[in-house]
Amino acid sequence: MKVSIFGTGYVGLATGTCLSEIGHDVTCLDVDETRIESLKQGRLPIYEPGLAPMVARNSGDGRLHFTTDAASALEGAEIVFIAVGTPPDEDGSADLQYVLTVAATIGANLRSSTIVVNKSTVPVGTARLVEEAIAGELTRRGVEIDFEVVSNPEFLKEGDAVNDCMRPDRIVIGAATQAAVDKLKRLYAPFVRNHDRFVVMDVRSAELTKYAANAMLATKISFMNEIANIAERVGADVEKVRQGIGSDPRIGWQFIYPGVGYGGSCFPKDIQALARTARQHDYEARLIEAVEDVNQRQKGHLFELILRHYGDRISGRTFALWGLAFKPNTDDMRAASSRRLIDQLWQAGARVRAYDPEAMSEARRIYGERAGLVLCDSMEEALGGADALAVVTEWRQFRSPDLTALRALGDAVVFDGRNVYDPAELEQAGIAYYGIGRGR
Ligand code: UGA
Repeated sequence: MKVSIFGTGYVGLATGTCLSEIGHDVTCLDVDETRIESLKQGRLPIYEPGLAPMVARNSGDGRLHFTTDAASALEGAEIVFIAVGTPPDEDGSADLQYVLTVAATIGANLRSSTIVVNKSTVPVGTARLVEEAIAGELTRRGVEIDFEVVSNPEFLKEGDAVNDCMRPDRIVIGAATQAAVDKLKRLYAPFVRNHDRFVVMDVRSAELTKYAANAMLATKISFMNEIANIAERVGADVEKVRQGIGSDPRIGWQFIYPGVGYGGSCFPKDIQALARTARQHDYEARLIEAVEDVNQRQKGHLFELILRHYGDRISGRTFALWGLAFKPNTDDMRAASSRRLIDQLWQAGARVRAYDPEAMSEARRIYGERAGLVLCDSMEEALGGADALAVVTEWRQFRSPDLTALRALGDAVVFDGRNVYDPAELEQAGIAYYGIGRGR
């Protein structure tokens, strides 16, 4: 099938590449010329495990193309994806300008009938706006071309996008006609060959499904962080509690890891947007709003523990910081908890020596050269001359640290923002330990 995809961010690039991998002829389009040039040379704008070799293979085989030219990308495309960003507006609602600009571009360049699939995370009712934007352009051109707008939200996780795309647990299709449903089913069939993983519904329900999924996951995290904060106060260990509840299949093991809060480009923005949508419909979504409130507070929790240990003796101290990305296996620092901690440490007069396995160039882009921050080339280097260690992202290589090196820290203290260490083991080695929700 001939497919074109507007937007070469995580979603667009991963989806486009995986669709070419199963044999479709895919053109990925972006307005950013430098990005498209880089992609043509096989250089990816993002770090995503497994994606680069797949891009190289499918480009080499002539199934995956990159362009900035909308007219040629749309030529003969049976399915057109919109996969551009929906950043938060000032009031927290999703900013639809990129989605609607793409819709207008589609309307201005379309020559034959097609299905327009919205993959961007958008508030309920957006498909309608996209339809109007395309129709407006067609009317302006004085042409009549048949098209239908379908909602097909994505559930990819950064760091696991290729796997999520090639082996989806469900494919949600929100469409008004059976023809559109059939076409999307044909497109995706190779991903779900042995199982019927299609969930077909109306457009609005599909749009809401995406928000509901992210809000549910974020709720689990904030809930667990609340339990952790209670555990800390009553002298219980949340890690034991987690093990005590996860085996109940109704609760499950996933997304019940307490920590310094969720970050990334999706949860914080989507939760806010959902709460905002509710308010626009005169409804106060109290639980959803609380989920984000709890998360905001939790992002400051590691600093609270640092305060608990040091009191007002933070100024002039140096903190090694392991992990800058909002989670492991990505270089993405959007809404990362590390950023909050760095700001708080600076405000308290401390210095930071930071290391992340993938996010160093992103950190350089965000912070540049500045006093109070040393960006280090290794986790060991970050410890050099530091008084304490704070772990913010649970990268695998941080899990078995050299205890002698931690003991050698100026104050021999570790603040573990993701509960990756065994408190007893560190304490036996003469290292003071603070974790999340580990009452002592
Ligand atoms: C999330 C969803 O998991 C995807 O299903 C969805 O498609 C995507 O948003 C999206 O809307 O595009 P992602 O933002 O890549 O994916 O990251 P997650 O793996 O969900 O992690 C989000 C944050 O929650 C991270 O900061 C992570 O550290 C935190 N987290 C996760 C916890 O604090 N505890 C947990 O138990 C799990």
